[in-house]
Amino acid sequence: MVIHAAAQALAHASTREGTAPVRSEVTITIDGPAGTGKSTTARLLARRLGLEFLDTGSMYRAAALIALEARLDLGDAKRIAAAARSAGMRFDWSADPPRLWLSSPVPRDVTDRLRDGDVTLASSAIARLPEVRAILVDAQRRLRADHPRLVSEGRDQGSVVFPDADVKFFLDATPQARARRRADQLRRAGQSVDEPRLLAEIIERDEADRNRDTGPLIIPEDSVVIDTTCMTHEQVLEALEREVHARLGPLG
Ligand code: DC
Repeated sequence: MVIHAAAQALAHASTREGTAPVRSEVTITIDGPAGTGKSTTARLLARRLGLEFLDTGSMYRAAALIALEARLDLGDAKRIAAAARSAGMRFDWSADPPRLWLSSPVPRDVTDRLRDGDVTLASSAIARLPEVRAILVDAQRRLRADHPRLVSEGRDQGSVVFPDADVKFFLDATPQARARRRADQLRRAGQSVDEPRLLAEIIERDEADRNRDTGPLIIPEDSVVIDTTCMTHEQVLEALEREVHARLGPLG
């Protein structure tokens, strides 16, 4: 693991004598398949550590929404990439979690649309396209430059986007546990649930995520792997927080 400019980052910002220095830069990545509780964990970890939170899945979802609205062929990499670039995707960081806006043709907050079934399905298809990934990876790196104290969550954050991250986590769980969690979530939202179908979809999405040529879901060599199958959210969160503090000390 390359400690991301550790000495440099442990810095400058100690304003008063006796105050713990503030790390001006820290990147924590959380990768893993769908249904491991990554998003919730990443958001709560960021809040506990006083860092910002980047949900990169929402960027793939927004690119999918753009493609659906423009009625583009979901295999047409060039057009989707161009449309995603010109839509002016941006986050409102004043909200927790940050909300995603598209600037063009008129500014609008699309966050609530991103979890709909059609967008979820389309996002998995367009995430295979190298041209689309290149644009979003580049956008993610620019976001870190502006938000240098970051917990970034996705599939390729530790392996491709931020290989220099200070701490890399990979959350996993059995497909059965992930299907059960998703089913509970849907039931709580008052929706009907076909659990065997959910399980089949999860297995199918895992296959697609693991086997694509660009940015596949892999376990980065230097990551901390946590199997969350038998753990509560709180236990996972505590394990991550402990690991970060053990490796980096106080973040300020
Ligand atoms: O995490 P999620 O379900 O919101 O992600 C939506 C889709 O985007 C999913 O098919 C995986 C893909 N994705 C990706 O390929 N790379 C990322 N860094 C984040 C998400």
